[in-house]
Amino acid sequence: MAVNTQQLTRYKKEGRLITVLTAWDYLIAQAIDQAGVDVIMVGDSLAMVALGYDTTIPLTLDEMIHHAKAVRRGVKAALLVVDLPFMTYQESPEQAMRSAGRVLKETGAQAVKLEGGYPAMVQTVARLIKAGIPVMGHVGLTPQSVHQFGGFRQQGKSSKSGERILQEAIALEQAGAFAIVLEHIPEDLALRISQKLIIPTIGIGAGAHCDGQVLVTADLLGLSGWSPPFAKAYVNLRETIAQAAQAFCTEVREHQFPESDAKN
Ligand code: KIV
Repeated sequence: MAVNTQQLTRYKKEGRLITVLTAWDYLIAQAIDQAGVDVIMVGDSLAMVALGYDTTIPLTLDEMIHHAKAVRRGVKAALLVVDLPFMTYQESPEQAMRSAGRVLKETGAQAVKLEGGYPAMVQTVARLIKAGIPVMGHVGLTPQSVHQFGGFRQQGKSSKSGERILQEAIALEQAGAFAIVLEHIPEDLALRISQKLIIPTIGIGAGAHCDGQVLVTADLLGLSGWSPPFAKAYVNLRETIAQAAQAFCTEVREHQFPESDAKN
């Protein structure tokens, strides 16, 4: 049975940890969906892992929709969440409505994710939810603000910034968000937020006490040339791919592949 947004809150209540992975194309989506992951996220990290940009900032809504449509074709069971790219929702609630509306109508995703929990963004989230668009929040290290942070740095280290992130998470829950990503914040802060909220927290670089965990699938697979310190590679596909490509080159150059019909 397909996962839905309400189910995630039930999972939290039952103490069942939630699994989230990102996808950017059909084959990756199909493989992780068949593995039984609860939520598949077309994160704007695809700007870096699939398109080769240094940050998520250059990604356009059209590029995101193009990738999300491919992912949709591979997802049968997981809940599909799509990130709204930088500057496709920050301007006004109306801009966010147009962008999120396009994502849901054109890709078949069930929800959108957007970054930030400051008051104007909370109003935007409330507006989307009123229109029937489920929203996942994202606080802590919000990569679309990388230039403001001066790099992909841990957030919430001081008691003042930790308190601000906690208040943002509470405000997003009150606005109706169905889950919140906590990125690169101290473990004790993530624990406090997770205990305070009824909706699930999904951690990445936020320690072991969140209600679920998300990884960028390129990091999980060891595909990325660079990955953050909190990521875990479960396999080194970058090396495996290079070995396969080298074996192919060798076999072609040495007339071993393809085998000649004359031999058969
Ligand atoms: O863009 C992304 O992949 C994300 C996840 C890491 C949460 O936002």
